[in-house]
Amino acid sequence: MTTRPPAMKSGLSPSVRLRTDRLLLRPTTPADAPRAFEIQSDWDVTRMLRMALFPPDLDDMTGWFGEHPREWLAGTAFRFAIERAGRMIGVVDLDEIDGEEGELGYWLERPSWGKGYAFEAAEAVVDFAFRQVGLLALRSGHAADNPASGKVLLKLGFRPLLSMRKLSRSRGEEILHQSYGLTANAWRNRPDADR
Ligand SMILES: CC(C)(COP(=O)(O)OP(=O)(O)OC[C@H]1O[C@@H](n2cnc3c(N)ncnc32)[C@H](O)[C@@H]1OP(=O)(O)O)[C@@H](O)C(=O)NCCC(=O)NCCS
Repeated sequence: MTTRPPAMKSGLSPSVRLRTDRLLLRPTTPADAPRAFEIQSDWDVTRMLRMALFPPDLDDMTGWFGEHPREWLAGTAFRFAIERAGRMIGVVDLDEIDGEEGELGYWLERPSWGKGYAFEAAEAVVDFAFRQVGLLALRSGHAADNPASGKVLLKLGFRPLLSMRKLSRSRGEEILHQSYGLTANAWRNRPDADR
């Protein structure tokens, strides 16, 4: 395993902001926990999040968001609140960063689905992962009954890898899970890349 330099040393300040056409992505803070709790109190959101608790627990969520600034500084996870018109509508993150690889995840409040926000936010964070963090590959995945997430990943250029049964904590049962991968090289050479 290669250890990564702490994020601050590699210039990834926790004050970084990513702007897209319609969204502002900023590092999550402990103060975001109640809003995240509200979003994950929707079963239609949380049943798709394999590692989440349902119903969510506010203390647990507060503890998790309390870890985010430390994770950022250590370079082990970079989590962004997705803001639309000054309101947090979800989270997009890179976590399980180990060596040159990490995992992409995202979740949005239900009223914001179907407007292209997940793709727009994830595209900015994938670019951040490869260009600013310097990762060489990303993993992601979704429940087999979550075609919207599959669409987002395919549009980003992720390639399907394995389909296997995995435990879903939120559902309390095994689900069929599809995993995906994307390399920095494929991202740089994607047809619509702005070089
Ligand atoms: C998955 C999720 C992030 C998608 O967010 P979103 O902002 O609606 O996604 P986008 O609008 O960027 O793209 C969704 C795409 O899926 C398509 N889609 C939506 N529902 C679909 C369905 N049932 N079957 C097939 N495609 C579907 C949309 O048409 C769109 O494709 P298009 O851009 O070609 O039109 C959102 O539904 C969500 O937060 N779900 C709960 C949490 C979750 O699933 N997180 C991901 C865990 S892997």
